[in-house]
Amino acid sequence: MQTSPGIQDKVVVITGAGSGIGEATALLLAERGAKVVLGARRSDRLKALAARIADGGGEACYAPTDVKRRDDVSALVKLACERYGKLDVLVNNAGIAPNSLLDDLRVEDWEEMIDVNIKGVLYGIAAALPVFRKQGFGHFVNTATTAGHKTVPTMSVYSGTKFAVRAISEGLRQEAGDKLRVTIISPGFVHTNLADSMTNPEVKAQIVGTMDKMAISPDAIARAIAFAIEQPADVDVNEIIVRPTAQG
Ligand SMILES: NC(=O)c1ccc[n+]([C@@H]2O[C@H](COP(=O)([O-])OP(=O)(O)OC[C@H]3O[C@@H](n4cnc5c(N)ncnc54)[C@H](OP(=O)(O)O)[C@@H]3O)[C@@H](O)[C@H]2O)c1
Repeated sequence: MQTSPGIQDKVVVITGAGSGIGEATALLLAERGAKVVLGARRSDRLKALAARIADGGGEACYAPTDVKRRDDVSALVKLACERYGKLDVLVNNAGIAPNSLLDDLRVEDWEEMIDVNIKGVLYGIAAALPVFRKQGFGHFVNTATTAGHKTVPTMSVYSGTKFAVRAISEGLRQEAGDKLRVTIISPGFVHTNLADSMTNPEVKAQIVGTMDKMAISPDAIARAIAFAIEQPADVDVNEIIVRPTAQG
């Protein structure tokens, strides 16, 4: 283990920890000495990841969590506080991208993205903000995307949810005062399982093709998250954009 003083012994809850960016972040932070609390719907993946972290000498626990359910997110934060006595960081990372043209009228996909990508983040804030206020410290890391800066056809709703994540995060930062920190992480194309959430086969094939051509490793995003976390308490890294060099 290569511990880092700004990460060592921090208690970090990560939603969407079962694969991709969440999984890479859990592995990196645990390697640097954090106690990670993993949430996602598929508990078999979380169990395997927690075992892998423990095998490497790290500390992890998990709870099956659907971020569409406020009670699940509250229970995940509660697990961290009860198990480790505090919560330093909440990484609101769970997200889906069933992209399509608006003309397709995939209204259920739109609703799903709003529920997971926006309401899931809000439930995270609702669960952790009172804990952070009581403690007098705490750090939100919210995963947005480069599509949360600029939209393109098929990504309108996904982009809209991530524009919302950025707006909510910036509002939270302004309201947070001098003790809490808020970071937005905006990745470009990253090699993950995100395309599994896509329901339109043509859009999915196109995204998978782009990912195969240029996507970067989720480790790159994990390193950016670690950078924000390891800063001194008076340094608030507000947004990091990390994208492939090849992404236009
Ligand atoms: N990959 C990219 O190119 C890219 C670019 C920009 C931003 N992002 C953002 O990065 C974040 C992570 O995505 P990823 O790329 O790492 O994709 P991923 O590999 O599909 O990971 C998403 C994770 O979220 C979990 N999840 C999905 N729905 C959930 C729900 N309702 N409740 C709790 N967990 C849920 C999934 O596990 P379960 O299915 O077991 O719940 C999985 O662990 C997302 O917010 C995404 O929008 C990704």
